[in-house]
Amino acid sequence: MSGVPADVSTSGVAGAPRATAQGFALDVAAVRSAYPALSDGWAYLDGAAGTQVPEAVIAAESAAYRQGLGNHGGFFAAAQRSAAHARAARQAVADLLGAPDPDGVVLGPSTTALTFRFADALAKTWQPGDEIVLTRLDHDANVRPWVLAAARAGVTVRWADPVLPSLDLPTEVVAAQVGPRTRLVAVTAASNVVGTRPDLPAIAAAARAASDQVLVYVDGVHAVPHGAVDMGALGADLMATSAYKWSGPHLAAVAGAPVLLADLHPDKLDSVVDVTPDRFERGTPPFAQHAGLAAAVDHLAGLLPGTGDRRARLLASMTAVEAHESGLLCRLLDGIAPMVHVERIGAPTRQAPTVWFRVRGMHPDEVAQACARARVNVWSGHNYAWELAGFLGIRESGSAVRAGMSCYTDPSDVDRLLEVLASLAGAGRR
Ligand SMILES: Cc1ncc(COP(=O)(O)O)c(C=O)c1O
Repeated sequence: MSGVPADVSTSGVAGAPRATAQGFALDVAAVRSAYPALSDGWAYLDGAAGTQVPEAVIAAESAAYRQGLGNHGGFFAAAQRSAAHARAARQAVADLLGAPDPDGVVLGPSTTALTFRFADALAKTWQPGDEIVLTRLDHDANVRPWVLAAARAGVTVRWADPVLPSLDLPTEVVAAQVGPRTRLVAVTAASNVVGTRPDLPAIAAAARAASDQVLVYVDGVHAVPHGAVDMGALGADLMATSAYKWSGPHLAAVAGAPVLLADLHPDKLDSVVDVTPDRFERGTPPFAQHAGLAAAVDHLAGLLPGTGDRRARLLASMTAVEAHESGLLCRLLDGIAPMVHVERIGAPTRQAPTVWFRVRGMHPDEVAQACARARVNVWSGHNYAWELAGFLGIRESGSAVRAGMSCYTDPSDVDRLLEVLASLAGAGRR
């Protein structure tokens, strides 16, 4: 425990921490022991499609059911417990994103569902001739809802394409598409396949300099699990995140300022109270998962020993997650660099720890199958990076293979993938 201040709490999963120049390093063995599913011996490099959950999340959900839940709005204790779970989930998301106010956190089943909801609501404020800016780097969840809403509203879609071969999304490329009629810039904080992290503060500043009516909608789904986030500093008016990418349940949230939500009127039942954030949340929510979501954020905040409020502990622990995963990313990139049969797609200047690649002469599904035989979880296909796969001309040929790091990934997971890839040298048909 050398280097650990005496007043540091060791609650959460944090084991004996190791001090580094950046702060404390994760004790990955301790982190892994919190996730029951990891004991099956597979290498889970599929976190970009959803992580495993720690025991604390499973326990929180089952405790919520054991204690008793009621539908919201009731005068009895079970209903009030449900309302408390929803409030705790909003506060947890606000702490994770650095959101301005938990009352501006809209909870929902998925980022896709919530983005459709926001697209419909925002489109009611657009006029024919207005413009929106989308990117060909983004997951389709931050593209299609806007394309469809724009078509209905008579609004022009302007596209910002990443540059080849790095697949960076330079600020100038986005800035070239914004103008005085721009109402929305929808952009990712990190590509879910090639990892590119655009310079969001600069993009948001360029958008605001060009238009006084613009909103910046940031897809934070792939960025949030991999580092500390401050949505205000990123320039996001609205930011989406999916809890199942950061050790939580299958739930999502979009956060913004309550004053912004107050101007938006999504379709809703007449019988539903016309207040925010409730009017964005359709039907009866999953209260037990709300408890799981809050437990997931507590778990992330407890990855390192720390003091201070949950936001402060999240900033420290997610900084350590980023350092840990960056080391593993380097290990993977160094490992594939000499493999002439492995073709990496993109090489962004700043990136999340996720790599997209093809193996010469093999269909990406065949590569993923070879990995599965070695008990290594990776994904093949477009992974909903639909526009990017089309832009690169690989959509029809199976797109690529994706491997990514999570807070619980250890070097042996990466090495197992590298062994499979090495064994595929010469295995291709062409
Ligand atoms: C970057 C990114 N955006 C959006 C989504 C969609 O999230 P959800 O599955 O919650 O709709 C995903 C899911 O993979 C994603 O990776």
